[in-house]
Amino acid sequence: MSTSRFLSACRREPVDTTPVWFMRQAGRYMAEYRALRERYSLLEICRQPDLATEVTLQPVRRIDVDAAIIFSDLLLPLEPMGLPFDFIKGEGPQLERPIGSAEDIDRLRDFDPRESLAHVLDAIRQVQRELAGRVPLIGFAGAPFTLASYAIEGGHSNNFAKTKSLMYGQPEAWHRLCERLSSVVADYLGAQIDAGVDAVQLFDSWVGTLGADDYREFALPHTQRIFSQIAGRVPTIHFGTGTSTILRDMREAGGDVIGADWRIPIDDAWTQIGTDRAIQSNLDPTLLLGPVGRMLRHADDILARAGSRPGHIFNLGHGILPSTPVEHVQLLAQHVHSASRRMR
Ligand code: CP3
Repeated sequence: MSTSRFLSACRREPVDTTPVWFMRQAGRYMAEYRALRERYSLLEICRQPDLATEVTLQPVRRIDVDAAIIFSDLLLPLEPMGLPFDFIKGEGPQLERPIGSAEDIDRLRDFDPRESLAHVLDAIRQVQRELAGRVPLIGFAGAPFTLASYAIEGGHSNNFAKTKSLMYGQPEAWHRLCERLSSVVADYLGAQIDAGVDAVQLFDSWVGTLGADDYREFALPHTQRIFSQIAGRVPTIHFGTGTSTILRDMREAGGDVIGADWRIPIDDAWTQIGTDRAIQSNLDPTLLLGPVGRMLRHADDILARAGSRPGHIFNLGHGILPSTPVEHVQLLAQHVHSASRRMR
């Protein structure tokens, strides 16, 4: 695996061509995923290692990606903590009893991921056997802010009103919740690394809703604890959206690679992140809907701005949308490889 261009780029070593993978590269835009979803729910796929393995490998077979990401969901650790949920068609995740008070936080349970999430670890081992070194495998988990927002809102939110009310109104309870989450997540990522993932990504998808001062007060210390606990084992990626104003703070929180979205040009983002870190970014996923000329021009612009400096991993600013034509994803991956090879 030491020859993987994805892992080399994480370490800012020179590569033959820019590595590429896509958030949500497994999912509804693929016919073979939709076919499986007719027979199994999302949680069934996540809980059965054979199915999770199959879905993890679907994009690797069809698209010229340089990494696989284990098929799972960010919310899985919530259930063994005492926060059961389900996915409601057309609406997304829904928790049965979201956190509403400090007492709810004190009732949360600690758990051993090697028992309660053993199916994820089994899927990691199975994927690694089947990949046999073809491309590296990325593990992942949610960052405390993003996980806390689901635990408190009970599902997706546009304004995070309940989350911020608890954060501002009961800061001690907030920090207690995030301490529990950071210890669970650090342990869970450690278990994924033990099971054999080659890199991990921490998703703080919604942290861009915080101003910089609030990020430093309410999110940074908890995220930082996770990165310091897993430091030095495998490359780590720290991702969020809407983070143009907090990239320096995210860098301080940790990650060998910092993710950025399309709201900021990659060269500006890299200046903020610092050139002693790698960057993963940052095409707007909507551009993959077409027209392809525009998609490819934007991809070229990103590659030109990243320049010849080692340490760029090409990805989208957020996940692939379900209505994306699979041919566009195939074309984009091939284009990134051929165009960046020519630029070297
Ligand atoms: O990237 C990959 O290919 C790996 C798979 C993956 C899933 N969820 C599977 C999934 C990953 C990395 C996640 C992470 C995740 N889950 C995040 C962070 C990433 C991000 O998008 O910011 C979040 C916020 C969640 C929580 C979650 N799971 C939501 C809000 C939803 C509903 C949204 C939607 O698109 O319907 C999910 C469902 C989910 N998780 C799907 C997939 C492929 C949708 C598929 C389905 O219903 O069949």
